[in-house]
Amino acid sequence: MSILQKRILITGGAGFIGSHLVRRFVNNYPDDEIFNLDQLTYAGNLENLKDIESSPNYHFIKADINELDDLKKIFDSNLITDVIHLAAESHVDRSIQDPTAFMKTNILGTLNLLLCARDFWKHKMVGHKFYHVSTDEVYGSLGETGAFTEQTAYDPRSPYSASKAGSDHMVRAFYHTYHLPVIVSNCSNNYGPNQFPEKLIPLIINNIIHKRELPVYGQGLNVRDWLWVKDHVAAIDLLFHEAKVGETYNIGGECEKTNIDLVQMICDLMDLKLGHVQGTSRQLIRFVKDRPGHDLRYAIDASKIKNDFGWKPSLAIEEGLSATIDWYLQNEDWLKNVTSGAYMDYYNHHYSK
Ligand code: NAD
Ligand code: TYD
Repeated sequence: MSILQKRILITGGAGFIGSHLVRRFVNNYPDDEIFNLDQLTYAGNLENLKDIESSPNYHFIKADINELDDLKKIFDSNLITDVIHLAAESHVDRSIQDPTAFMKTNILGTLNLLLCARDFWKHKMVGHKFYHVSTDEVYGSLGETGAFTEQTAYDPRSPYSASKAGSDHMVRAFYHTYHLPVIVSNCSNNYGPNQFPEKLIPLIINNIIHKRELPVYGQGLNVRDWLWVKDHVAAIDLLFHEAKVGETYNIGGECEKTNIDLVQMICDLMDLKLGHVQGTSRQLIRFVKDRPGHDLRYAIDASKIKNDFGWKPSLAIEEGLSATIDWYLQNEDWLKNVTSGAYMDYYNHHYSK
């Protein structure tokens, strides 16, 4: 191992954002060793990484971040120099059904990783990094104006966002208390290929494919700020290599949309791609019971990462949605595999209420 070689543990690398990040690091940093640690929950899928699984610098480790002893052995036997932590329970609706799972994985699992990094790097913290991937949802809900900055006070309102807020606080506590070299980023809603179809965009695409109703919560007036997933992983790459330790960065898409506008955009694009008469898919839209505690609006002020590093989103939503829809249409087997069995149980339970 050369002195400069990194041995990077990426957690949650079989999930949506994680798989894009693992691919980028494996391809762009052939001299570094990339260890993808994932428990392969319903959201983790090694099919996402088929194209790079035989790369010499890629290693997969099936493990649960809730198991501290296993993590210690993994740090030890693989001489881990850096961590990029994405593993999490990530769906708000599931957190409303089962908050305990979110508290365990997102808070205690993160604590386990922090303990391992602190103890394994204790002789010399310099040169290591613990990068924590978080969400804008920790800041709570905005009114009709304004945007979250890195100074916005935390005000999480769902069990998911509360658990991510707890993990963010713990990461920063390890920076101040043990001098662990941490970086935190808080990002807005991602979209793109490989996203599990419980989340809005792939759910709508999948339902249009199957001519199922399109459930829009409440009146569809909640606003999210959408970012192309590959722009998020480009930002993580940049911050991981360039940001000063102890810093926090907000990452956002500069792309606010009400849910109903976004769903209608997907409907129209799908009609075009499937050769349907315009308006066909819109007829499937149904306004359904609202999510309890549904945050009204998220918007990110990303001027810090823009000013410090020149990062900005590269893809407009129209192009990104079109590419996303093409990917799902070309990967119906992937969609079929992840939506069989347990997914349909979840779907029927959640949407029958
Ligand atoms: P995802 O649900 O698609 O993937 C999560 C991955 O973590 C899966 O591969 C799963 O198997 C793994 N995992 C879950 N529990 C685990 C455990 N106990 N041990 C090991 N692995 C486990 O999530 P995502 O959308 O890719 O999000 C990744 C990270 O980014 C999360 O931390 C999330 O909070 C954050 N984030 C997501 C978004 C978004 O829009 N999706 C936006 C901002 C931040
Ligand atoms: P989601 O993709 O679950 O992301 P998040 O809740 O983390 O922002 O939901 C995005 C928005 O879409 C959110 O306002 C809830 C809404 N939504 C629906 O209207 N219908 C649905 O079936 C789902 C899953 C979400």
